[in-house]
Amino acid sequence: MAMLRSVNVGLPKDVVWRGRTVHTGVWKSPVDGAAMVRRLNIDGDGQGDLGGHGGEQRAVFVYQLESYEYWREFLGRDDFEFGQFGENFTVDGLADDEVHIGDRYRIGAALFEVTQPRVTCYRVGIRMNEPRMPALLVQHRRPGFYFRVLEEGEVRAGDEIVKVADGPEGLTVSEVDGLLYLPGHDRATIERALRIPALSPGWQGSFRAMLDQPESAGGNAGLAGAAPPPAWAGFRALRVTAIERESSTITSVRLADPDGVPLPAALAGQFLTVRLRSGLVRSYSLSGRPGDAAYRISVKREPHGVGSEYLHTHLRAGDTVDVAAPRGSFVLAPGSSPVVLISGGVGATPVLAMLHALAEQRSTRRIWWVQAARNGDERPFAAEAAALLAQLPQARSYVCYSRPRPQDTDYDVTGHLTPALLRTLDLPPDADVYLCGPTAMEEAVAAAFPAGKVHTEVFGARAALTPGISAKPSRPPHAPDGEPGTGPSVSFVRSDLTVPWPGDGTSLLELAEACDVPVRWSCRVGVCHNCESGLLSGEVTYTTDPVDPPAEGNVLICSSRPRGDIVLDL
Ligand SMILES: Cc1cc2nc3c(=O)[nH]c(=O)nc-3n(C[C@H](O)[C@H](O)[C@H](O)COP(=O)(O)OP(=O)(O)OC[C@H]3O[C@@H](n4cnc5c(N)ncnc54)[C@H](O)[C@@H]3O)c2cc1C
Ligand code: FES
Repeated sequence: MAMLRSVNVGLPKDVVWRGRTVHTGVWKSPVDGAAMVRRLNIDGDGQGDLGGHGGEQRAVFVYQLESYEYWREFLGRDDFEFGQFGENFTVDGLADDEVHIGDRYRIGAALFEVTQPRVTCYRVGIRMNEPRMPALLVQHRRPGFYFRVLEEGEVRAGDEIVKVADGPEGLTVSEVDGLLYLPGHDRATIERALRIPALSPGWQGSFRAMLDQPESAGGNAGLAGAAPPPAWAGFRALRVTAIERESSTITSVRLADPDGVPLPAALAGQFLTVRLRSGLVRSYSLSGRPGDAAYRISVKREPHGVGSEYLHTHLRAGDTVDVAAPRGSFVLAPGSSPVVLISGGVGATPVLAMLHALAEQRSTRRIWWVQAARNGDERPFAAEAAALLAQLPQARSYVCYSRPRPQDTDYDVTGHLTPALLRTLDLPPDADVYLCGPTAMEEAVAAAFPAGKVHTEVFGARAALTPGISAKPSRPPHAPDGEPGTGPSVSFVRSDLTVPWPGDGTSLLELAEACDVPVRWSCRVGVCHNCESGLLSGEVTYTTDPVDPPAEGNVLICSSRPRGDIVLDL
């Protein structure tokens, strides 16, 4: 007979961890007597970071006493107490390899349904004083799982746990956890998982991304954006074959193989990285027709901008520059749904490549080309876009100028591109939206569409993801404090910073953090892939083997260090 052995609750608190303050609810203590379970929480319980924990799908976390025994032996520990694994319910029975997603259980006066395994993160490592814990839970197939509360009611330690319904498809918590995090990702099993209505929308989204992953793409699409491997490793010399003016501020540069060999096709929307001279490395979206023998980038001259100034004033046809292969997952997905391409200023570059791809396919999809610019003088690609749109039977264009000149006539509206303006266009709700422009515009416009339908490209450092870490004043990226290292050089391209590797005892993630380079992470031991970043050149050594390898050309920075000079897309 399965039994509830302890009900554990705890409100989030601040914990000092490696000199930083973490706001976390992972500390739970047993409740004496009855506890009221509600849709979102047990009374007295809370979560520090609702992005990763809590909510209706993750209202109650369950862990088994059998796993306590297992870890006691494996870790050689005898100091465990109820709530040790951050769980609300410590249970006898209900093993991860016996409970199915979608199973329903009556406990006390409440009714529960199993929604998903634990989302592994570093905070369980802090609670356990064992940083490997997020990876161990997955590798040893003992993650624990979440309940959704179907009927609220009181529960207490000692309550019997009665199964009242079997989850469809018979997929256990361990199987579903392994399906996402461990290598393999059997398609038929993923399809079965997607047929379980109780599986939480977050996990369904990850499994759908895995099914949609292009055949050629490696890595784990359920955890990180997937794209085919870069066409070549590191940098290779390409020749500048032409330089063309697109607007008063934007110039295009065509890059070809010096021997005239056609360049590998990039996907519409991808970017490449150029090393203009030592230490001056910048990324630019491809703006030309995907599949052309040469690449085209289009660069806006920024006031005081070192790289764009160099490209506009020094670069000549016939020069060679070092170029890293096109990459990126901001790419036009195949399908028949309507497409909305929205750009602001020089953000038109990747979406223009998408428009080329659609024209090339003679696409019959409904297409909106929405372009914002200051005025006719600063608007790039007007004639090129018009010619492409004319080839597409279901395409419409909408242009807004924020400060039109008196002589401008080729636009539809005066003003900035706002959600209110977009609403007047009656865009179909099922459209896939590709958006690229200044950050403020991207944020405002993205909010006007359903989250899963908007894809954005960022022309700079991506937003950091540091779950549970209390905000501290952000400094622009800088060399780490203290004595400079003497190791190989580590370049963070988006942050425009190159520093020597400080030596052993640290990871690339820790170096980036010491430099205030924006980074994304969650588990810090090679499971979650949040830290997966482009390795533009060089090689790394893993200090902990990734549970599932990253895509070719990428690196998990939380568990690696450089083997020589490296360049990272960070
Ligand atoms: C994936 C990706 C795709 C991209 N695609 C494109 C693209 O298609 N086209 C494009 O033009 N760019 C693109 N970019 C941006 C590009 O990589 C560069 O960031 C951009 O060209 C500016 O580089 P810079 O060297 O000219 O400016 P930096 O020297 O890096 O300066 C950055 C900004 O700071 C300002 N600045 C610099 N020094 C000072 C100072 N002393 N005082 C005040 N302000 C200062 C500059 O005006 C500039 O706006 C892309 C970036 C990424 C990551
Ligand atoms: S932070 Fe999770 S894999 Fe690196």
